[in-house]
Amino acid sequence: MHVHRYERLWIWLGSATMIVFFVVLAGMSVAEGINPPSHIQTIDPSKVGSTPPFDHPGLRRLPDGSYEAYYVGRIFSWSPAQLTIPRGATVTFYATSTDVVHGFAINGTDVNIEVVPGWVSSMSHTFDHPGDYLIICNQYCGAGHSSMSAHIVVQ
Ligand code: CUA
Repeated sequence: MHVHRYERLWIWLGSATMIVFFVVLAGMSVAEGINPPSHIQTIDPSKVGSTPPFDHPGLRRLPDGSYEAYYVGRIFSWSPAQLTIPRGATVTFYATSTDVVHGFAINGTDVNIEVVPGWVSSMSHTFDHPGDYLIICNQYCGAGHSSMSAHIVVQ
């Protein structure tokens, strides 16, 4: 089979680029242990139910008036399913998974974090507007993915 010289060059360049990208990616993730910035805390995914504070998912009020919210994702639900917080509250979300990768996204906000088993993902948000905020899972996690939701009511 005759392959044109330019076509051969193009195939070679494309393949070489893919190999370089793969080596860089593997080097960064394996050798340098680089992970997304919020993934700083690890947790045993098989012991989430007995590891504080994830053994009691929900809302905690801190002495400075801000809040922490602990969420556990599992196929196919978020726990807690509903939280009520006062308007103006700043909430730092901590989320982890007991099984597969989920995506924790709060509609109408910029909270959108990947929830990976073995890691605790975190992000903060201030809720200035009252309303019912829908939390969805935005990483496909199985047959019930589309029903994996929860609510935050801001009053
Ligand atoms: Cu959990 Cu999709």
